[in-house]
Amino acid sequence: MVIRQREPVNFEYPFDRLDTFLTPNSLFYIRSHFKTPALDRESYQLHVDGAVAKALSFRYGELRDLPAEKRVATLECAGNSRIFLVPQVEGAQWQLGAVGNAEWTGVRLRHVLEQAGLADDATEIVFEGADRGKPKEAPCPPEPILYARSLLRAKALSDEVLVAYQMNGQDLPADHGYPVRLIVPGHYGMASVKWLTRIHAIRGTFQGYWQTSDYAYWEEVDGEPVRAPLSEMAVKSQIARPSTYEVVPGGQPYKVFGACWCGAAQVEEIEVSTDGGASWVSAEFLDEPRRFAWRRWQSIWQVPKEPGRYELMARARDSNGQRQPEQHNANYGTYVINHPFAIEVFVDGPATGDGPGH
Ligand code: MTE
Repeated sequence: MVIRQREPVNFEYPFDRLDTFLTPNSLFYIRSHFKTPALDRESYQLHVDGAVAKALSFRYGELRDLPAEKRVATLECAGNSRIFLVPQVEGAQWQLGAVGNAEWTGVRLRHVLEQAGLADDATEIVFEGADRGKPKEAPCPPEPILYARSLLRAKALSDEVLVAYQMNGQDLPADHGYPVRLIVPGHYGMASVKWLTRIHAIRGTFQGYWQTSDYAYWEEVDGEPVRAPLSEMAVKSQIARPSTYEVVPGGQPYKVFGACWCGAAQVEEIEVSTDGGASWVSAEFLDEPRRFAWRRWQSIWQVPKEPGRYELMARARDSNGQRQPEQHNANYGTYVINHPFAIEVFVDGPATGDGPGH
């Protein structure tokens, strides 16, 4: 793992090691705003309250006794690839590895809300984590706060959202939300609240820090920019190999390898350029389309004999016709970095076999 920050834990997946469809737990990126809380399953309780017929609490064992569901979902931190923004911006300097794909096991959120009797006029559901502290990005509240995010009613009641307790068939690791977290397939990672201890249904619009100040963007409403929460992931593709400044032997085929994903749709087309975006060729998908999961892809590059610096790019289109934008959209600030950015590599002259190093 690449350490971006030691405490709180912010570790990045070395994306050039991308191989399997599911990212192993030990390599899955960790994005935490505060120290990992020490929770144990014996004393753990999940409280469900607010705009419900009956406030409820679930013990860990009670959640495990409910019907279990599995979902494969790609989580990408909304700040992934921030390092590619020029000029450099504030925030964790993620390269390509604040993204991963895992199989999550848990209980349907809908099931939990139905048991509590969600009120007909509840509009949003707020999810609170057990971690707390003072956030870094201004404007900051003066006192320590919880990590909390909300979902609109329709998404919360959809089939896909899980109150999860396992990741790739194992209990959630501490840094990934042990013992219980929310998993919101299709949304940026910030929606998947870790160390989930309270689900609070509200009538109205949640205005918490992580919903309006951080993890929000400027949406244009009647010609005016207003703050709106980030939600669905934008279509994106990334090159895992070659990696930046890799030296690639000239005059031979090279397998360019990567992954692409989007929010609720499916990626349908993936193209690669090896000349800085002047020309594009279709790449080959290695995974079948599967809603909410990434698709790995490859493209064979016939590397020129000509030594020098080359720029590789990838771009995707989803089943809604959305394409990656040519430039980063400034309304998203330091988030949603999904324009195709160049991976620079050096092509070496063809091997001569007549000396050391060849
Ligand atoms: N949940 C809590 N309670 N605290 C957090 O700091 N970080 C969020 C989200 N859930 C966070 C949280 C962000 S920004 C992301 S991208 C994902 O968790 C990362 O999940 P992971 O660390 O399991 O990869």
